[in-house]
Amino acid sequence: MKKLDVARESLIRRLPKVELHLHIEGTLEPELMFGLAAKHGIALPYASVEAVRAAYNFSDLQSFLDLYYAGCDVLRDRTDFYALASSYFTRAYADGVVHAELFFDPQTHTVRGVPMDVIIGGLRDAMEDAHKRYGITSDLILCFLRHLPEADAFATLEAALPYLSEFVGVGLDSGERGNPPSKFERVFARARGLGLRVVAHAGEEGPAEYITEALDLLKAERIDHGVRCDEDPALVARLVRDQIPLTVCPLSNVKLCVVKDLAQHNFAKLLRQGVVLTVNSDDPAYFGGYVADNYRALVAALDLTAAELVRCAENAVRASFLPSTAKAALLTRVRAAAVSR
Ligand code: ADE
Ligand code: ZN
Repeated sequence: MKKLDVARESLIRRLPKVELHLHIEGTLEPELMFGLAAKHGIALPYASVEAVRAAYNFSDLQSFLDLYYAGCDVLRDRTDFYALASSYFTRAYADGVVHAELFFDPQTHTVRGVPMDVIIGGLRDAMEDAHKRYGITSDLILCFLRHLPEADAFATLEAALPYLSEFVGVGLDSGERGNPPSKFERVFARARGLGLRVVAHAGEEGPAEYITEALDLLKAERIDHGVRCDEDPALVARLVRDQIPLTVCPLSNVKLCVVKDLAQHNFAKLLRQGVVLTVNSDDPAYFGGYVADNYRALVAALDLTAAELVRCAENAVRASFLPSTAKAALLTRVRAAAVSR
């Protein structure tokens, strides 16, 4: 990666960061994958950690998801989920993350016989530790897998009801093409009725129309990715007018061939048009960088200014599901970091 000037590098380090688009299963580093495979006596189809990393060459979202779901097989007991999230929080702390809203995909695990309490229990143990050790606050967002039928999403929501106080909202992820938000309209209505917050992946590989559906039909409060919004100028105008945040993941977009290279990413253009953009890492173990690296990559490729970096950090605080008092306190910290040296 191009070397950044000292001022912006130091700003990126100092900025208190809120991460809003992070799949906890996507933080499974090959070292932990191998460790858990050995613990459970699972034979991996790779000879070494290096061989796993070498396999991370993706042609599209589906080619990544195939590996991502296969990797999840090593996550079997509560301490595995704890270890997974704990190692994320250690890296997040090093990157200056102060609050994170973590996606998790229960269907990937319940289908293998891992109970909901094991998944949520292990994640929450790590979240509690991260708060004590690092002062990082966090929340969980339960994601429905969109390649599966809506009935499966309903069953997942039902199975999660005993843990309703343990997650803040629901999301929609997995293969986007051919799985529009409209397929999940009823289950999202039920989730909203339970008081859950709503986000959805849309406009990553799918068309701008899916973003409009996520807003109109699912009532999504944030759009995950959303980078294809600029195929519809009226939609971009709506995102600006209604200040609807997009959780953008620059390195992910390159790795999954959503864009050819970062120099061609529309991040700077959308930000300068007034779209509320945030910077996130998506599946950092697979995409070559955690959140601070995503900030760095944007500066290197698109020359984002110091003021624009601060704006992204502020956007993430405002776009979070934190209570307003916590948001105000974090905004003060962001502004203090912006003027210090
Ligand atoms: N699940 C994990 N990462 C994802 C992504 N980038 N898009 C859709 N589903 C995902
Ligand atoms: Zn994602």
